[in-house]
Amino acid sequence: MSDAPRRLDVAVRRGEITVENDVALSAPLFAGLEPEAAETLIASMKVIDLGRGDVLFHEGEPGDRLYVVRDGKIKLGRRSNDGRENLLAVLGPGEMFGELSLFDPGPRTATATVVADAVVLELGHQELITWLADKPGVAQHLLQSLARRLRRTNEALADLVFSDVPGRVAKALLDLSTRFGVEVDEGIRVAHDLTQEELAQLVGASRETVNKALADFAARGWVRREGRAVVLLDVDRLERRAR
Ligand code: CMP
Repeated sequence: MSDAPRRLDVAVRRGEITVENDVALSAPLFAGLEPEAAETLIASMKVIDLGRGDVLFHEGEPGDRLYVVRDGKIKLGRRSNDGRENLLAVLGPGEMFGELSLFDPGPRTATATVVADAVVLELGHQELITWLADKPGVAQHLLQSLARRLRRTNEALADLVFSDVPGRVAKALLDLSTRFGVEVDEGIRVAHDLTQEELAQLVGASRETVNKALADFAARGWVRREGRAVVLLDVDRLERRAR
């Protein structure tokens, strides 16, 4: 399938998600809610199936809904005037996006594109505002998640200035492992589903430099590359390199 974003042709499913079974409920939107309240909220959300390359929305468009990832991976990217792309984040199950244009009304601050086949839950901003009116606890969790994102963004900004590319690659791999890592005998297998180009956009460096860093890590026995996945063989060394 082409990596080029295309407008989506969505299949919408309803009634499939319950409070008992769903990882989407770890999203801050549901934090601290009684099961009945969570059920009511879920019932008001649309379930959308997406395939790799689908674009949920583009940077600069007006936005009136937010999303919770139930399954798969979504990248949030920005494009410069000369066409270069930078990835702000790659989100996985239980993470939320599309809320900035709610709290600070304005255009979308990034383009949301599907990296690995995904299922997302969609909620209109207006519905959320009504919902939050008598739920200060949920509003507090949403603030907390925004604050956490700001911390991460500050750290990424500092890394761009103070860290070298191998350090940033090590950090990106460790970060991806907290979302998508699965323990295997040799270490942690991270099926990130990113192309080399996308990995480079996430790190904020050229594909060649990122490739070189990965090849160096592999030669040292810290990682093993497997297509769009990587096995972290020596997490301690990677952590030290990321500092
Ligand atoms: P919104 O601006 O509505 O649409 C793009 C979304 O990308 C935005 O809401 C946030 O949910 C998300 N986003 C923007 N910046 C970042 C960031 N630095 N880290 C993670 N997610 C972000």
